[in-house]
Amino acid sequence: MKILVTGGAGFIGSALIRYIINETNDSVINVDKLTYAGNLQSLKEIDSSERYTFIHADICDAQALETIFSVHKPDAVMHLAAESHVDRSITGPAAFIETNIVGTYVLLEAARKYWQGLEEAQKDNFRFHHISTDEVYGDLPHPDEWKEKCELPLFTEKTAYAPSSPYSASKASSDHLVRAWQRTYNFPTIVTNCSNNYGPYHFPEKLIPLVILNALQGKALPIYGKGDQIRDWLFVEDHARALYAVITRGEVGETYNIGGYNEKQNLEVVQTICKILDEIKPQETSYSQQITYVADRPGHDRRYAIDASKITQQLGWKPQETFESGIKKTVNWYLNHLEWVENITSGAYQDWINENYEQR
Ligand SMILES: NC(=O)c1ccc[n+]([C@@H]2O[C@H](COP(=O)([O-])OP(=O)(O)OC[C@H]3O[C@@H](n4cnc5c(N)ncnc54)[C@H](O)[C@@H]3O)[C@@H](O)[C@H]2O)c1
Repeated sequence: MKILVTGGAGFIGSALIRYIINETNDSVINVDKLTYAGNLQSLKEIDSSERYTFIHADICDAQALETIFSVHKPDAVMHLAAESHVDRSITGPAAFIETNIVGTYVLLEAARKYWQGLEEAQKDNFRFHHISTDEVYGDLPHPDEWKEKCELPLFTEKTAYAPSSPYSASKASSDHLVRAWQRTYNFPTIVTNCSNNYGPYHFPEKLIPLVILNALQGKALPIYGKGDQIRDWLFVEDHARALYAVITRGEVGETYNIGGYNEKQNLEVVQTICKILDEIKPQETSYSQQITYVADRPGHDRRYAIDASKITQQLGWKPQETFESGIKKTVNWYLNHLEWVENITSGAYQDWINENYEQR
């Protein structure tokens, strides 16, 4: 299979491409605009493979996409390209509307036109897999406020959409477009909605890498509000395996929720990282002394938690890492890859991109 992956230089996209090239015989065409979040160094271990091709392009560029489809003739699309950071969506939503909504529309149209021209057998096997987030479902009740006798609810594939941030609203819009293209044009789409990912090569603006790196640099470890927001954490390599199970065995028109069965309060996540660092890189005082509470994010959802029973029952996927094993691997990875971090945070990598790629 030849898979066109969008956003493959990002955190999850690069984990997916490393998985496909290392663990399968499939080929990948990686289409990425290389925004601040795109990093080709995350693909170094596979970029010399004959089964891997990188194309620097914007998913909002219809002409570029038309050429890519006609030259490379993919059997499937896995669409991960997005603006993905909630805080950035609050201070500058325009890029989120442009890439996540307009970009998904442009990509859908380019893929649909290409698909319509395929021979029947190839047309039947073609898939467009849209990768989305559990944040489209909004907020779940928090244990603090739960007075019912039954268990706390989880997000299922049938939960109504109620996004809270410009980021999640833009992802919800793109999910709706993808479903409409399936229903209206019979275009063979599948949607997955996943919980918070963590692991190697995560851009250091997100909670877990930010805390690890700030801790090592003696900086404050910022916690929004009381730190009692709950997220369901999934190790990124487990997500990559789930995505591959869906593209190869998922049913057209279906949605699959993907989660880690690891509900943790943000404060607990930060304290766990401090404890691991206290053990493997001790300093005079515990790293937890660096925890600092900051004003909460506007519209901050209190709890996300996924019911992933459908993908487990129907496709046989379940996470391999526990939070305890995955977070240890992640902390150790950052300790051993400070050069990767230095490169992207110092601007050296962006300078290299500017020298080697025309900026779009
Ligand atoms: N990170 C999470 O915890 C999480 C959880 C569930 C779902 N998701 C979804 O998974 C996908 C990937 O997330 P991520 O964390 O890897 O994001 P990321 O921000 O790390 O990477 C996004 C990638 O998309 C590229 N990109 C951005 N705009 C583009 C454009 N216009 N054209 C082409 N490429 C463009 C960037 O250069 C980057 O390589 C996103 O769609 C996100 O909504 C993320």
